[in-house]
Amino acid sequence: MMRLLSFSEKRVVAFWRNKFSPWIGIAVLIMAGLFVAALSRSFLDWGTDQDVGVKLKVPSKGPGKPPVFAYWISGTGGDGRKILRLLRAVYHPRNQYLLQLDAGSADSERIELATAVRSGNVIRAFSNVHVMGRSYPVDRTGASAVAAALHGAAVLLRLNDGWDWFITLSASDYPIVTQDDLLHVFTSLPRDLNFIDHTSDLGWKEFGRFDKIVVDPSLYMDKNTGFFFATETKKTPDAFKLFTGSPWVILTRPFLEYCVRGWDNLPRKLLMYFSNVPYSIEAYFQTVICNTPEFRNTTVNNDLRYFLWEDPPKLEPIFLNQSHYKPMLKSGAAFARQFVEDAAVLEKVDEKVLKRPQNGVTPGMWCSGSVGSEEDRCSRWGDIDAVEPGKWAKRFRSLVKRSVSGEELYSNQCKF
Ligand SMILES: *[C@@H]1O[C@H](CO)[C@@H](O)[C@H](O)[C@H]1NC(C)=O
Ligand SMILES: *[C@@H]1O[C@H](CO)[C@@H](O)[C@H](O)[C@H]1NC(C)=O
Repeated sequence: MMRLLSFSEKRVVAFWRNKFSPWIGIAVLIMAGLFVAALSRSFLDWGTDQDVGVKLKVPSKGPGKPPVFAYWISGTGGDGRKILRLLRAVYHPRNQYLLQLDAGSADSERIELATAVRSGNVIRAFSNVHVMGRSYPVDRTGASAVAAALHGAAVLLRLNDGWDWFITLSASDYPIVTQDDLLHVFTSLPRDLNFIDHTSDLGWKEFGRFDKIVVDPSLYMDKNTGFFFATETKKTPDAFKLFTGSPWVILTRPFLEYCVRGWDNLPRKLLMYFSNVPYSIEAYFQTVICNTPEFRNTTVNNDLRYFLWEDPPKLEPIFLNQSHYKPMLKSGAAFARQFVEDAAVLEKVDEKVLKRPQNGVTPGMWCSGSVGSEEDRCSRWGDIDAVEPGKWAKRFRSLVKRSVSGEELYSNQCKF
């Protein structure tokens, strides 16, 4: 049994006992018991029949078969509902999902998320969604964000050995193509391509960021804490070339094994170098991949996301609303960010693009319930290896095709 995601039952109970009456303590004991049971079952149930009574399948792999994605979805306190909605929007039985809330979230919030995930028949039957039980501080602008992404990758590597690509999403992201679209377009791609936006043109960042020394207290404190600058500065490295870019990536399994297992010293050395660099999540993977000859040629300089920046840009892109709907879909991207909770534009994406019912998952070829009935189409299912691209897959396919075509691919790869 993997206890990786186990949630310390005793600790939760002690925590609640100190604060509330014994009755609440008992209620929580039961809830925590159910929760631990839920989590352990989600590991045991993979590939077995469930109460739903339909034969389940493990994804088939091989030439002509769609790939398998491993999603790492991260958020903080108050993001539970957004993450649940995002999960339903990107759900497909082939994929693996790891949901992680940082130390800004309460224990009860993570229990609630895990319970809500488990309440869906399909998700329960396929047991491919995992909720990280423990939390720890993550500062998006500090090195703790790199540690968290590597941790997410390490957990997914250990949970499942069948996935091809690791996709990072935050609670404020949303897909603008269906999983069928994404799986279909990726089926015909070489499986070694890493989608990572990068540049070695550091511009103001060379002095504004890389020459600074920062301390990220989220690495050693219990609570999320912002970084602070040291007064000293450092030189721009000459042992390797710095690259920077978008923190949102789609990386291959071999590249993440290379980063996590560290049989070559470069990923580890850079991890240490970046521990005191601000915004290191915008440079770590970029610098590792571009300084490693075996992987440099696998980079595609596109993160397949849609963002809009204010002028001058802030740390995060602007919140998208209804007025961005058309340009967003025209972009051909796979995901967009960022959105406020329950944004009206998301309703429109659900209705027009994903065809997702309010509390259901995005339908795909795998759903075999009757179309147009009150019943959720995906409460029954058939072949999970079959995918059927929809109308919006066209733009996405041409974006991907353009970015992986010989000329565009080679001329943008890790230019020193
Ligand atoms: C990467 O591409 C360059 C230029 O096309 C080539 O010279 C080099 O051998 C390639 N490296 C690997 C490891 O494939
Ligand atoms: C959408 O966002 C833009 C830019 O942030 C803003 O100017 C505009 O007023 C917003 N539109 C609506 C309908 O909220």
